[in-house]
Amino acid sequence: MRDEPEPGGGTGPAESAVAAPGVLVILGASGDLTKRLLMPALYNLACDGLLPEVFAVVGMARREMTTAEFREQQRRDIRGFSTRKSFDDDRWRWLESRLHYLAGDFADPAAYARLQELVRDVAAGTPAADNTLLYLAISPEFFAVVNEQLDAAGFTRLPGAKRIIVEKPFGKDLASAVALNRSLLARWREDEIYRIDHYLGKETVQNLLAFRLANGMFAPLWNAAHIDHIQISATETVGVESRGEYYDKTGVVRDMLQNHLLQMLAYVCMEPPASLDPGAVREAKSRLLESVRPISPADVDHCCVRGQYGPGTRADGTAAVGYRAEPHVDPRSNTPTFAAVRLHIDNDRWSGMPVYLRSGKALWKRGTEIVVQFKSAGEPNLLIFHIQPFQGVEIRMQAKRPGPTFQMQRAGMRFDYAETFEASRGTGYEVLLYSAMNGDPTLFSRTDFVESSWRIMQPVLDAWQATPAADFPNYVAGSWGPRAASGLLARDGRRWHECLGRDVLVRSEFFASAPPVLLNTLVMAFRPLAVDAGATVVERGDTSAEFYVICRGEAEAIGATGERVGVMRSGECFGEMALLLNRPRSATVRAVTPCDLLVLDGEDFRRILADYPQAEADLLAIASQRL
Ligand code: BG6
Repeated sequence: MRDEPEPGGGTGPAESAVAAPGVLVILGASGDLTKRLLMPALYNLACDGLLPEVFAVVGMARREMTTAEFREQQRRDIRGFSTRKSFDDDRWRWLESRLHYLAGDFADPAAYARLQELVRDVAAGTPAADNTLLYLAISPEFFAVVNEQLDAAGFTRLPGAKRIIVEKPFGKDLASAVALNRSLLARWREDEIYRIDHYLGKETVQNLLAFRLANGMFAPLWNAAHIDHIQISATETVGVESRGEYYDKTGVVRDMLQNHLLQMLAYVCMEPPASLDPGAVREAKSRLLESVRPISPADVDHCCVRGQYGPGTRADGTAAVGYRAEPHVDPRSNTPTFAAVRLHIDNDRWSGMPVYLRSGKALWKRGTEIVVQFKSAGEPNLLIFHIQPFQGVEIRMQAKRPGPTFQMQRAGMRFDYAETFEASRGTGYEVLLYSAMNGDPTLFSRTDFVESSWRIMQPVLDAWQATPAADFPNYVAGSWGPRAASGLLARDGRRWHECLGRDVLVRSEFFASAPPVLLNTLVMAFRPLAVDAGATVVERGDTSAEFYVICRGEAEAIGATGERVGVMRSGECFGEMALLLNRPRSATVRAVTPCDLLVLDGEDFRRILADYPQAEADLLAIASQRL
């Protein structure tokens, strides 16, 4: 579960209709999910006037507590977890007065009988009695027993609408997901089962659907004839934090690829559904996943890269422990915290075009992006869906540089959510709860979708389980991940597009005071390069003309007689002298530790700087000081 509110997140516009009257039963109401996400989401819905007057929440958990104590606890917690700028006491009181609690053991039939009674009491004589939502906010080991007990107690036979919401993880492999589906389907109809993937609560993910359906100009290009490949990356800077016990059994493939990344893939690549009807959208998504070729065991080594972080340094300079030293993680763990895979979609639209997925923890930057690279003989056009933290859509293209000669430069056209919409910050769960209350399953996963997603990833899980990685840990915390991930694309003549933010550059003395327009241009021109300790990056006397920023690591400059003339660390730059002064390299630069560098080609550097005489003068001043 994520631990930080997302911008956007579905607090809907004022004209939206109020949700259907109903009772929301939260099983596991004393846990983290309720206080961090569900209650803040309900409060946001209440503030936006989207909850019906006839509404109640009934919480059940093992912890002994009265309704009064439950309300008091939620009142305390909401202050810490609300995503709104100011606190609306009236709206909270409105919601709080609708909260009820019951202590009960999940295996005790008597607890469910009491729950039935309480639900009946709070809804008695109101339209809420016809709409019951059961939210399993519990750890997956209780799914089966709670499901059985709910059935035994008669919840599956309630009059009116009843729905069950199941949280991730949905199984731990294909077999357990199939078994879980079977046990759910034995008691509930498919249209009563709401499987949550919180990525579908993100505005930017839902916007993929809007983009595909409502902007016809891209439709003719949306196929392998025009698109070279698609990259979907979700990188995180955090490690596993306090979740070692869960994560060590799970790993990145189950935690991110099998669900969140495949959901995004489905939205980007599905056949356009005929309408926004939930059935049409879910059918299109399922069809797409069925067309994804499961990676064959023989191909795993070739098409997939796994990684696990070792000790390193976070972006803010603080030390980070390696994965194996995290609390509750096996010191010899073979669990991957990074994975990159190449997939193929065997249908008419996408045949022959690869899709690359990548996700990892303890990496240099937090960001989820989908990059669609179009085919081109020259510089390719990119269409980038910025999912988070920056939210928007961008087209990278070539534009004529101002001036008397006809020269091109990379430029970006951007749609920025924050500049376009006045949405308040939400948790991402607002739209999910709201949809479930209204019986709209569009954003929830169907049985076949979940099983297909496991089918795609199962061979990777099996192969990695069978053969422990010989090189773990194979990337430094705070770095760009294992080197082999670049190799995966390089073998296909491609590279990952790292969407840099201006923040990466302003950390360096060269760019600390550069004008924003210059920074915007530069971030599009830099490309990442990782080098091993001992590698020579620049050779003295050479006429090469790249400019480098050190993102992570340490490099040394070596003079004519082999002596060390300087040491450079993260945030520092090198290579500017040869460029600015137009002369051969005056020193050799060698990586002392493994280094993550950003590289700017000399020609780009000169061209860009030509428009910024002041910035060029500042750079020259820094360079001459160095001399
Ligand atoms: C969760 C995973 O499903 O998604 C976490 O269990 C991960 O490990 C999180 O950090 C990422 O979500 P978000 O919304 O922060 O991208």
